[in-house]
Amino acid sequence: MNLRWGVAGLGRGASFVEWLSAIDGCEVVAVCDVSEAALQRFDGLQTYSDYSEFLEKSHLDVVAVITPGPEHATQSLAAMEAGCHVLSETPCVYSIEEAQAIVDVARRTGLKFMLAEDYIWMGWCQNLKKIVDAGKLGDIIFAEAEYTHDCRGGMLVDADGKHYPASAWGSREDLTPTWRAADLPPLFYCSHTLGPLLYLMQDRCTTAIGLNTGAKVAPEVCPVDMESGLLQTAGGRAIRLTNGFCIAHPFSLFTGLYGSRGSIRMVNLGGLQVKAWFEDDPDGGWQDLAMEYEEREDGHHWVTVMLEEFIAAIRADTDPPVDVYRSMEYTLPGICAHVSAEQGGKVVEVPDLRKS
Ligand SMILES: NC(=O)c1ccc[n+]([C@@H]2O[C@H](COP(=O)([O-])OP(=O)(O)OC[C@H]3O[C@@H](n4cnc5c(N)ncnc54)[C@H](O)[C@@H]3O)[C@@H](O)[C@H]2O)c1
Repeated sequence: MNLRWGVAGLGRGASFVEWLSAIDGCEVVAVCDVSEAALQRFDGLQTYSDYSEFLEKSHLDVVAVITPGPEHATQSLAAMEAGCHVLSETPCVYSIEEAQAIVDVARRTGLKFMLAEDYIWMGWCQNLKKIVDAGKLGDIIFAEAEYTHDCRGGMLVDADGKHYPASAWGSREDLTPTWRAADLPPLFYCSHTLGPLLYLMQDRCTTAIGLNTGAKVAPEVCPVDMESGLLQTAGGRAIRLTNGFCIAHPFSLFTGLYGSRGSIRMVNLGGLQVKAWFEDDPDGGWQDLAMEYEEREDGHHWVTVMLEEFIAAIRADTDPPVDVYRSMEYTLPGICAHVSAEQGGKVVEVPDLRKS
């Protein structure tokens, strides 16, 4: 029988409608968005501007929550209370309390919850995983990652949902900051940096320290320009994360892994460069590793593979590849580091929700 999917939020969610519709055994039956203009593009489907009605009337098996970040936990909880499995975009929660509530409902209902942390399925991460699993780095003792992406170009929005640059602030009375600008502390968006690191090391974080810049670049629009966190892991490792979205620096992703027998430094600055140094390499020195950033060696789209693995877990009633605990382990450390930054760098404990 086809799994009946509903997709909420039709910005990035429009791509999810396409990706899901191309998977055998899946049917997107309904979409939900507060914008009528967004809904108009989905003629053949049931369309809802009211999220409760979307859940009540469309008899869904699975909901993809692809709305603005601050909506995710409330909408995920409502979907699970309505008997649906949930795939949530990042960040899946905004607080420890929201994380606990989702863990509780997943335990009580047996429904699957998965954070759609697609970077793990990208070519670069799958390639690094093979190197790490082959033991070429020895024991990884320190890892770091940076996601810096100048998002100032669309940080303001008008009543029709049209985006404007942060520099347009004050030029018109109807322009307000988007959720990404006003309600997304940089490290709340940590899963693209932290998720791959924890996946590669099979570890989880126990404490967090954070520092941030405050608002210097576009102070009326975005309250924190850049933020860094230092995380301790249960496996005794240290992790450094840096995120910044209100800064004159186009998209880049950096990852560094430092092991007892080798190291890797990977950076995408408009093109991927991966350098590795392996102690047991007879030629010695830094070597270039050839790999693609997004494209996988199997030629499949990374998001499709992620979706197929989630669907397989629903069908087989097994844990999804990023289960409810892992979803929170990829998300909460960044929230804790932000809380720390707001408290002058105090150490904040990252709760172990497996024991909660
Ligand atoms: N994994 C990735 O690489 C990646 C890339 C882009 C975005 N994202 C994530 O995807 C999510 C959506 O991002 P986006 O860029 O599409 O955001 P967006 O703000 O551009 O669009 C969100 C859509 O949701 C609609 N919406 C707003 N409130 C709603 C509500 N209460 N109920 C239903 N619909 C509502 C808006 O009208 C809009 O169409 C975010 O969580 C973002 O972090 C992830």
